Amino acid sequence: MEKEKTFWRKLWLPSKKKWLFGIPLGGFLAVGVGVLALGGFQVSMHATNANEFCYSCHVGMDTIVEEYQQSIHFSNATGVQADCADCHVPKEFLPKMWTKIRATKDVYHMLMGKVNLENFEELRVHQAEVTHEIMKARDSQECKNCHNPEGWDTERQSARARNHHDPEQWKKDDETCVDCHMGVAHKKPAIR
Ligand code: HEC
Ligand code: HEC
Ligand code: HEC
Ligand code: HEC
Repeated sequence: MEKEKTFWRKLWLPSKKKWLFGIPLGGFLAVGVGVLALGGFQVSMHATNANEFCYSCHVGMDTIVEEYQQSIHFSNATGVQADCADCHVPKEFLPKMWTKIRATKDVYHMLMGKVNLENFEELRVHQAEVTHEIMKARDSQECKNCHNPEGWDTERQSARARNHHDPEQWKKDDETCVDCHMGVAHKKPAIR
């Protein structure tokens, strides 16, 4: 017991070894542990953003992945692909963390077998509504990460698009991308 105490105390005493610059050994250990934790954190943040991660539950549970794979966001002339996380997971740190924490409920629902191919068409209406609300509250920021209205050349868009693409007007009408564009990666939801 005594011996253990001195060990922990010594860990935080200024080091006597010259090459350690008087920094307590514990300081180095703490930094080491911190770096490892941060590395693990980065790896898990990255892994849980991959399409394969989303597929691991959504394939077989619903038809979302198959619909996405038929959509222009999966395959198009330019080969620029939008991953699930590009649209559903914010890039900024705090909103991203919130999304990941919120998603832990899905692990629970998965384990309880809440969603399956029989009841999905019924349950998806609510899911789409929730997802739409989240995107609207973020003013479609995830769409804008790729389709930046400040950078687009409306002259090269279709006449119909040009008539509707006026960000000043959107502000007045409280509209955002996902109000006019639904079902861009999945079947158009029956929420309106
Ligand atoms: C552990 C299994 C699992 C994984 C992995 C998973 N999901 Fe889900 N997801 C679910 C379940 C179950 C639901 C239905 C939850 C409900 O009805 O409340 C769901 C619902 C959703 C919804 C509907 C809105 C909501 O929050 O209920 C979206 C959007 C979604 N998932 C996107 C994703 C994306 C994007 C990924 C990959 C980054 C992903 N999911 C990975 C199980 C999973
Ligand atoms: C990772 C980048 C990326 C993200 C994120 C993204 N898109 Fe796209 N989007 C594309 C690409 C690439 C195309 C295909 C362009 C082409 O080949 O014409 C496209 C096409 C479109 C089209 C044209 C559809 C058609 O049939 O021609 C619409 C509308 C659109 N996106 C809306 C959205 C909306 C709304 C969001 C957010 C929910 C979004 N996009 C998110 C990259 C993205
Ligand atoms: C007020 C409704 C409205 C809003 C808001 C809106 N769009 Fe559109 N958008 C349209 C219409 C209408 C078209 C033409 C669709 C068609 O002809 O089928 C279009 C077309 C497009 C196209 C295809 C370009 C083309 O030449 O047809 C893209 C990409 C697109 N919108 C992205 C976005 C993004 C991203 C946002 C948000 C930054 C957004 N839109 C906001 C109505 C809107
Ligand atoms: C281009 C952007 C985009 C991509 C890519 C995308 N989603 Fe979505 N997703 C949306 C939008 C927007 C909604 C809200 C409903 C709507 O408008 O379609 C939605 C809705 C959903 C829903 C609710 C159910 C429903 O019927 O709407 C689920 C679950 C979901 N997405 C999961 C995924 C998964 C898993 C992937 C990858 C396989 C993915 N999404 C890829 C934009 C996207």
